[in-house]
Amino acid sequence: MNTNLFNLKEKVVIVTGSGRGLGKCMAKGLAEFGAKVVVGDCNIEQAQQTAEEINTTGTAAATYVDISVRQSCIDLIKFTVKEFGRVDVLVQLTRVMAVEWASKNIRVNAIAPGYFENIMSGANVEHTQPEKQQQIVTFTPMARRGKPEELIGPVVFLASDASSYLTGTVLFVDGGYTAI
Ligand SMILES: NC(=O)c1ccc[n+]([C@@H]2O[C@H](COP(=O)([O-])OP(=O)(O)OC[C@H]3O[C@@H](n4cnc5c(N)ncnc54)[C@H](O)[C@@H]3O)[C@@H](O)[C@H]2O)c1
Repeated sequence: MNTNLFNLKEKVVIVTGSGRGLGKCMAKGLAEFGAKVVVGDCNIEQAQQTAEEINTTGTAAATYVDISVRQSCIDLIKFTVKEFGRVDVLVQLTRVMAVEWASKNIRVNAIAPGYFENIMSGANVEHTQPEKQQQIVTFTPMARRGKPEELIGPVVFLASDASSYLTGTVLFVDGGYTAI
């Protein structure tokens, strides 16, 4: 039996939007499990900062990407292949691709986060209001926001051989929010 299912040492992983927030936390976590990580973000300074932090103990390279621009995504893949030789995992995802790409041995799974302590850019005004905080606690069975590092286990699981027969799934990492 393979007891090393979560080892990512042979994997090259791209994480888009990893200049800050949840993406940054997942990029760092994946690197801790041995993955070589490409940090892609439209804020290149933030991307470089994330890569610098990873490179103290792991392996990462930073590049600019705007995921809303097709050519920019192509450039991201080219950059990754040039830096690390191939792409094994892309953390970004959409479900319909799971069906289209299953026969090519490409698995596509999604993580659907609930409310996390990292409040995404632009949402600060609403999300720091006491009423909103109370609403989140009331409607989340675990009665708290998630910690960004609580996404590391799920993303490592999906990136690793531990999830080799999973495709087209959505993993709700939300403290039970969608269960009620
Ligand atoms: N934080 C939460 O509680 C929460 C909950 C549910 C879903 N989400 C989703 O998770 C994702 C990340 O959330 P977050 O809280 O880390 O946000 P964030 O604002 O902290 O970080 C987003 C990162 O993505 C980068 N980015 C934005 N547009 C980009 C583009 N077009 N191309 C490349 N990079 C781009 C930004 O520069 C930034 O570094 C978002 O899609 C958000 O909607 C977050």
